[in-house]
Amino acid sequence: MTGQTNGTEAPLNRADEVKELLSAVEELIIPFIRSADEDAATKHTGHGLAISGGGPRTALVEHHPPKKLEQILKLNIPEQAGGKAGLVQIVEKVLKYSVNTWDQGFLDKLYASTNAVGLVSELLLATLNTNAHVYQVSPVLTLIEKLTTKHLAHLFGYTSPHCGGISQPGGSASNSSAIVIARNTLYPETKENGNGNYRFTLFTSAHGHYSLEKAAQMFGLGSKNVVGVPVDAEGRMRPEELERLIKESKDRGETPFFVNATAGTTVLGSFDPFPAINTIAKQHNLWLHIDGSWGGSVIFNSHIAQTRLQGVELADSIAVNPHKMLGVPMTSSFLLAKDLRQFWAAMTLPAGYLFHNAGDSVNDVYDLADLTPQCGRRADSLKFFLSLSYYGQQHYSDLVERAYDAADYLLSLVKESPNFVSVSPEPLPCLQVCFYWARDGKLGDKEMNGKVTSEVAQRLIARGFMIDYAPGEKGKFFRVVVNGNTRRGTVEGLFKAIEEVAGELKY
Ligand SMILES: Cc1ncc(COP(=O)(O)O)c(C=O)c1O
Repeated sequence: MTGQTNGTEAPLNRADEVKELLSAVEELIIPFIRSADEDAATKHTGHGLAISGGGPRTALVEHHPPKKLEQILKLNIPEQAGGKAGLVQIVEKVLKYSVNTWDQGFLDKLYASTNAVGLVSELLLATLNTNAHVYQVSPVLTLIEKLTTKHLAHLFGYTSPHCGGISQPGGSASNSSAIVIARNTLYPETKENGNGNYRFTLFTSAHGHYSLEKAAQMFGLGSKNVVGVPVDAEGRMRPEELERLIKESKDRGETPFFVNATAGTTVLGSFDPFPAINTIAKQHNLWLHIDGSWGGSVIFNSHIAQTRLQGVELADSIAVNPHKMLGVPMTSSFLLAKDLRQFWAAMTLPAGYLFHNAGDSVNDVYDLADLTPQCGRRADSLKFFLSLSYYGQQHYSDLVERAYDAADYLLSLVKESPNFVSVSPEPLPCLQVCFYWARDGKLGDKEMNGKVTSEVAQRLIARGFMIDYAPGEKGKFFRVVVNGNTRRGTVEGLFKAIEEVAGELKY
């Protein structure tokens, strides 16, 4: 097809080029997704379909250690342009050796496959290549971010007309931003002067995510000053211990300023008791942040949220990651604000060469980067907005419920078998099911238990299941993370596969 020309310059034929490459790639990605759909039919047997050629392979992946994979892939940056044929070859390799997260057997840590609308939304974002820093270049996607964050803020029970939020590039980023916003709000002089003579301390449960310590290292607070609060038998922060530790910190002349409570801890999935923690935080004038990166998404199911997220609206800020539990493509994360004016005052730095429309109040802020640590920003909100529009809210309530049903089912199989020892709190707080395999229920020593766990997890990959494990007092234990699309047959197949693979071990 010939394009328009001004007579002197060659026509731009980018649209045709996109069409050509898209259809070439479409021919590869649709079979990739379909292979996972077809494999689902075999999962109940405890073995995905073996695919011939190369190493041991199912639809999930052909997995190799890094050095071996380097040899297989022979990746290089070619001197000459590879063009379409080169691109297709690379895409084929990428698909062949990547983990197919559409596969039912993908039950690794804390996220699962996306879906059709997720894929389309990424395509739309790439087409627009929008930078969501200032309104001028992102008019629609800025409004979508404002609407989506406001909607989420209301869903979590924030009622102030000033509530809202910002999109962030992940849960760690959301938590880090919350720390800076809290410090700059409570001690405004630190925004310009730095930490000065303050010896700031932060509090999070002993089971909290490591992003808190990482942030403390980045912001000159020091990870030693992140105080780990002991947890109860169910993995929840103990409020009386929090109070004791805050008082002790004050007695040492330090300045406690931030409590992170977790909604769905990374390993056990526990939810901290928010009302009691809030009372203590407020008594001592501390910012309460809730890290709901993982478990915050249960807000969509009021029944499940009732017992887990009670008091969540008391927090000053909340992190939530729809990319973990809700199938929105990586990354989709929001930091929600009880009062977005605080975010603005804490973060604003209106560099004249970027921001030309600094408003007088947060309601006038449409250049959203000014509320965040980022300058260039992906307009990730679009993905969750489109998903909500496409599926409707009831879908997300059902998705969360189905996920809990799948987790409960796996736990019931674990508990009925004489060869498994459960480690999960009950009732299951979230979607991780944690357990050991132990012949006749007899655990070995710490090292042996860990060896069994890691070896079984490794061997499961060739059978089409990918699960992870975490360190525990009695050695590493399995941490299976199910999702709202995990079918009963998959749960049964995984369980069967673990029994068979572990049964073959010589230990
Ligand atoms: C409780 C919790 N907080 C924060 C994070 C970090 O989220 P992200 O991986 O999006 O940075 C995780 C990740 O698993 C998590 O489990």
